[in-house]
Amino acid sequence: MSRNWLENQTTIDKNTQDTIRMSGILPRHIAIIMDGNGRWAVEDGKNRTAGHEEGINSVRDIVKASSQLGIQFLTLYAFSIENWKRPRTEVNILMKLLEFYLKHEIEELHHNNVRLLAIGKLNSLPKSIQKLLLYSIDLTKDNTGLTLTLALSYSGRWDIVKAVQMVALDVRRGKLSPEDITEERFASYLVTHNIPDPDLLIRTSGEMRLSNFLLWETAYSEIFITDRYWPAYRREDLYIAVNNYMCRERRFGKTSAQILTEQPDTNSPKNYFQRVMDAFNPR
Ligand code: FPP
Repeated sequence: MSRNWLENQTTIDKNTQDTIRMSGILPRHIAIIMDGNGRWAVEDGKNRTAGHEEGINSVRDIVKASSQLGIQFLTLYAFSIENWKRPRTEVNILMKLLEFYLKHEIEELHHNNVRLLAIGKLNSLPKSIQKLLLYSIDLTKDNTGLTLTLALSYSGRWDIVKAVQMVALDVRRGKLSPEDITEERFASYLVTHNIPDPDLLIRTSGEMRLSNFLLWETAYSEIFITDRYWPAYRREDLYIAVNNYMCRERRFGKTSAQILTEQPDTNSPKNYFQRVMDAFNPR
């Protein structure tokens, strides 16, 4: 089988993706809180490790599907700063899986034009992972396809506090005056400064919270929560979330009437994808 993702896609999947693309504007940036690995495993009579292992297969499929669909930015919450408080054995397994993923996937990611980035307190990760990340980020830095960002040892509050410290230092050094601190200027101090805010935030496993993920950046993200556990999450689930996003009206605080006059010719069929699906499954 070809290593090229565009060559080894089934016709049905290609058609589904074509239909989605035709239904409107794709989210430019999708961020995912991958949750439910433990519950998936335990409910299946397995230990939690099995959930994390299968979670890697979900990562593979979602990265591939996002790239094939033409999503520009995908950010995965793989390990939070709070996750360091988990039992040592589980933390070690997660680190080993991450190492395994980077070692085995980076060539294929590179071959498919994916640019890898990592955000978080990266110096708290094992040295071997730091080295792999440096290598992978450098290898893929000129790629122009999907930007895959792994949030590792990351937390939103950690990033905001760190940014405030850097702003304060720049003010003390006379490089910045307090009046110049705008939202844009502040955001330039965050680890996410080189990626756009997420348009769509997906959380698996039915939990309805942000868990310290991209707190600043998700101010106007559309949120989609699915009951599916992460290890069972596959591209069809992603398509449902993207389709749902594409049916929404993003108002950014304005009124619906204002949005309509700003885009008089969107003429986008309310949702082409939904109409095609309805044609197949009349209610
Ligand atoms: C949450 O499930 C998941 C995690 C804390 C880790 C996610 C990691 C992976 C999917 C594998 C490695 C990732 C990459 C990018 C290679 P949970 O353990 O909190 O599940 P629970 O809420 O059911 O206990």
